[in-house]
Amino acid sequence: MNQEEYLSEILWAVTGEVYGQALFQTAAEQAEDKEVSRKCAVLADLEAATLARLQTLIDKYSLTYNDDEHIERGRQNGRKIIERGWQETMVLFNEAVGDDVDRMERLLDNAPEEDSGALQFLVAHEKALAFFIEQELAGSVESLSEAHKLLQET
Ligand SMILES: [Fe+2]
Repeated sequence: MNQEEYLSEILWAVTGEVYGQALFQTAAEQAEDKEVSRKCAVLADLEAATLARLQTLIDKYSLTYNDDEHIERGRQNGRKIIERGWQETMVLFNEAVGDDVDRMERLLDNAPEEDSGALQFLVAHEKALAFFIEQELAGSVESLSEAHKLLQET
């Protein structure tokens, strides 16, 4: 991975967290089901915590991006979570999350030592999301345990 690709992958990760925070925040606000709302609020916190970790890289490489479009897309898809229903959303998310974990791991593998802390957190948070989805689909009540562990680190 050359430097240009590395920075473009960091930007992909950063804008993904901006998007994800808006997505889960919107779903938390719109959900009538209190449990769904509570879970989405925790996931929104995890996205925000990940973005805060990535801020060091945004600063270091002077990365710029347009918040608005990612927030707007996140809000739209956050409303869709509620329209579509929780179970169906988990099935959909489950199809995509593995690829995102792989892509983030590849980014971490290509990172210089001093960037690895933020990117380790990025990978860990996506694995916590994958765990959450897997547990939700299995009907477990412990689905947020990995997310809570990570949030305690912040
Ligand atoms: Fe995320």
